[in-house]
Amino acid sequence: MPTETALNQYLDFLRFSSISTDSTHKEQVVECAEWVRQKLAAIGLEATRHETPGHPIILARGSHKAGRPTVLIYGHYDVQPVDPLALWHRSPFNPGVHDGIVTARGASDNKGQIFSHILGVEQALKEKGDLPVNLIMLIEGEEEIGSPNLAPFLLAHREELACDVVAISDTAMIAPNHPTFTYGLRGLAAVEVTVTGPDHDLHSGLFGGAVENPATVLARLIAGMHDKNLKVALDGFYKEVKPLQSWERKAWKRLPLQERALLKITGAPALRGEKGFTALERICARPTAEVNGIGSGYQGEGTKTVLPSTASAKFTFRLVPDQDPKKIVRIVQAYFKKNAPPSVKINIVPGHCGESYLVDPNAGFGAAAQKALKRLFPGKKPALIREGGTIPVVADFKSILKADTLLLGLCLPDCNAHSPNETFPVAHLDLGANLNRYLLEEIAAAGKETGRK
Ligand code: BES
Ligand code: MN
Repeated sequence: MPTETALNQYLDFLRFSSISTDSTHKEQVVECAEWVRQKLAAIGLEATRHETPGHPIILARGSHKAGRPTVLIYGHYDVQPVDPLALWHRSPFNPGVHDGIVTARGASDNKGQIFSHILGVEQALKEKGDLPVNLIMLIEGEEEIGSPNLAPFLLAHREELACDVVAISDTAMIAPNHPTFTYGLRGLAAVEVTVTGPDHDLHSGLFGGAVENPATVLARLIAGMHDKNLKVALDGFYKEVKPLQSWERKAWKRLPLQERALLKITGAPALRGEKGFTALERICARPTAEVNGIGSGYQGEGTKTVLPSTASAKFTFRLVPDQDPKKIVRIVQAYFKKNAPPSVKINIVPGHCGESYLVDPNAGFGAAAQKALKRLFPGKKPALIREGGTIPVVADFKSILKADTLLLGLCLPDCNAHSPNETFPVAHLDLGANLNRYLLEEIAAAGKETGRK
């Protein structure tokens, strides 16, 4: 179990309502950033705060010595919005601990995971006065809104941020006590579509039948985005999609996160998705089209006989290598243009994008990461998976810093990230702290073997 001080500091970290997308929380976001900087300074790192057009970026450095590898640990202190608030068992920014489980927004994504790395560094510095590698920590406040200011920051600071490898704990373990190494992430393209019919809401009795209903049009267009096998039916959507590798299909079939576990976690009456793939394959390695929000017309109590003027929906498309998010946005625009009837106007606003990521799990420092996981869970073989979520900056680390990323998730599949009642086991603070120590040791050892600096 973590020390009382460590646990209390983690709970303090969770008390900031650092919701990056909501400008009414700006002050809390900035205070949270400053809290992170002070914590990193207190454990003996040189910690600086960098303002951006959005939220601050916190950078910290350990002592750097020639001849040892440089590791950049990335995390984010911002969190997702908390709605629907009524479904929370407690206030989302008033963390509570019950039966060893912490509940609060950000508990897993990403405050618990990044804080456990900070604890690992703190312990190593306390015991040994130094780390086995040159360390950079980069903790930002805009991951949940697509990291719009991070790529320019990486470019501007690329010499200071030069590193041999990046490590991130912002993904999930396949199951409790099951070491998990993630070697791929899906990408993302977001768009918002508004369908406008009449220039004001109409009486549905006086005009219904003569004027087309934008909600019906939108529903038809959404329905047309999938075919009967639940493949995405947008022209060109699969053009760059590569088949899954046969070793992954085989390995994933043996993992515990199959239909039964997914049914339990999600509470859905049945699973359903693209024909020809298992549920895990669909999440890890197949692209999707999702409606994230939809709205039109009267939503209040009872009936209102209205023919709404507009209908809108927010979409995200999860992408796999080598789908280009910008191309996908164009494909979506073309679909609406081609299929919308002349009775409505369509407005499409692209949102944030993120590239997918895929590496060989045994290349580079991948083997060192797997060794660290084996030390963390003796006798267990790490699961090698791709994850369905997106961490936009991972592609930027590759293109700007030329560094691969090791994704070592510490949250559980049922942690409720982005949902009400997000959780993180208290024991995973120690788990992450130990992972941090083993990982830095294994990278240092591998760095020596390969003669990297
Ligand atoms: N930690 C998640 C990403 C994640 C979760 C990856 C689980 C793999 C498994 C991250 O904080 C996140 O939610 N990212 C957003 C990015 C988006 C807003 C650009 C996502 O995936 O929706
Ligand atoms: Mn998230």
